[in-house]
Amino acid sequence: MPKWLNDAVFYEIYPQSFYDTNGDGIGDINGVTEKLDYIKSLGCNAIWLNPCFDSPFKDAGYDVRDYKKVAPRYGTNEDLVRCFEEAHKRGMYILLDLVPCHTSEEHPWFVESCKDERNPYSDRYIWTSHCFERADGLPCVGGEAERSGTYVLSFFKCQPSLNYGFYEVKQPWQLPMDHPACLATREAMKDVMRFWLDKGCDGFRVDMAGCLVKNDDEQLGTSAVWRDVRAMLDAEYPEAALLSEWGNPRRALKAGFHMDFCLHNEVAAYHTLLRAYDGAIYGEVRGEDKSYFRRDSGASIVPFVKQYQEDLAATKNDGLFCFITCNHDTMRPRANLTPDELKLAYAFLFTLPGAPFLYYGDEIGMRYIKLPTKEGGYFRTGSRTPMQWNGGANLGFSAGDTDSLYLPVDPAPDAPTVAGQEADPDSLLHTVRAILALRHAEPELWANAPFSVHFAEEGSRLFVFRRGSLYVAVNPGAVECAFDAPGARAILFSIGSCTVAEGSGRVTLGAQSFAVLRSTP
Ligand code: NOJ
Repeated sequence: MPKWLNDAVFYEIYPQSFYDTNGDGIGDINGVTEKLDYIKSLGCNAIWLNPCFDSPFKDAGYDVRDYKKVAPRYGTNEDLVRCFEEAHKRGMYILLDLVPCHTSEEHPWFVESCKDERNPYSDRYIWTSHCFERADGLPCVGGEAERSGTYVLSFFKCQPSLNYGFYEVKQPWQLPMDHPACLATREAMKDVMRFWLDKGCDGFRVDMAGCLVKNDDEQLGTSAVWRDVRAMLDAEYPEAALLSEWGNPRRALKAGFHMDFCLHNEVAAYHTLLRAYDGAIYGEVRGEDKSYFRRDSGASIVPFVKQYQEDLAATKNDGLFCFITCNHDTMRPRANLTPDELKLAYAFLFTLPGAPFLYYGDEIGMRYIKLPTKEGGYFRTGSRTPMQWNGGANLGFSAGDTDSLYLPVDPAPDAPTVAGQEADPDSLLHTVRAILALRHAEPELWANAPFSVHFAEEGSRLFVFRRGSLYVAVNPGAVECAFDAPGARAILFSIGSCTVAEGSGRVTLGAQSFAVLRSTP
């Protein structure tokens, strides 16, 4: 694992909405560069940048038309190289978003692949042998191309699936993984990776990483592809980091990824942490909210702890099991947690093992805003609104016309802003900075340092865990809790109230409180 990951804290940026430096209403790469000092000031030393490549933007850039060209609306390749250089000067790292499963239907490879006459790209995508032949249960489109065949889709209609082969070949048109055309797809993706690594990027977040090879229920074929990619990185770019969108750290880390993050929707026990009500991730608030961090939910941490301990034990030798505050595909946590609840949730997430991921704007508690769909966002659009920097025009996001903005800014009169929260010592922003500063200062809080459970019981709101010699305690409920913490002495950090009885190691944690304590053996 690249050494820098042990102390990495990531900030995810949706470039459209971060900072507009040229007044055209949309964020740009220079906007990221200008805000590097701000990002560093949060305690984030690494960035995951959502796709910034040339695209028709039918899925916000996850439909790539040219993997090697920055989308003109964001700037130029030179701007991105400058961004890498400025990040490195500050000891920061940037991961680009690699989209290997599909391209845009406008990618030149696909345009060639649609032609009737055979050419080097005919098998770059997955085609059946006849215009009326469906794709054996895989989603597909027919009737659009000169070529007689239907092609397989990977996500939206605009995203034809690249061909990495079939683990089990069941039809004449299904190619095995070691077919030269499938190996050529794999090499083409390695070529894209080398292109950006040579320009100074520090690795990739990989979109839909578990879906490359088809007829591959156990993902054995897909895992083999990634192990091959990882071998290339280890040999040629040993400091490059590989993060998957797999949602199954046990599999992803065995397949060669250094990190996988847990998507709240896939494992119920993780879902219960921040957004436990039905359908929340799909943009609707339904049912009773049982999130652990809701003051009045009554939820215990036990279901989380059971699942997490097993997963952590199964993965800790392979890589990092990471958590996110949210991402561009989920609702923002502010949708169901108050700023006070968010302080506790973030303090907890930022003291766990693995590398934490903070989504832009979550540090000030930006709201989820219901909006009509934009660029294939649908319900996700509500989590993609412009960053709120200050109380000026367009909340400081852009000097352009309000009508030209990529998405409207939060119209609420009390919309949180960075400037507003910098001036308020009790703000969420200050809490984020303080907890991340503590994390960096205490190697026992770093990604690979030990974790064990000290107290977690059904019927109690309290959770106490150990990171080496430290105790980390959280009480999201409305009632004070106490626990024994042998050897506990100094309180290194707290939110709310925390006291340690002299000599006895008895710790009292007030309602809605969090503390990190140092102990002596
Ligand atoms: C996952 C990405 O995070 C999402 O935004 C995108 O729509 C799909 N993959 C398809 O690429």
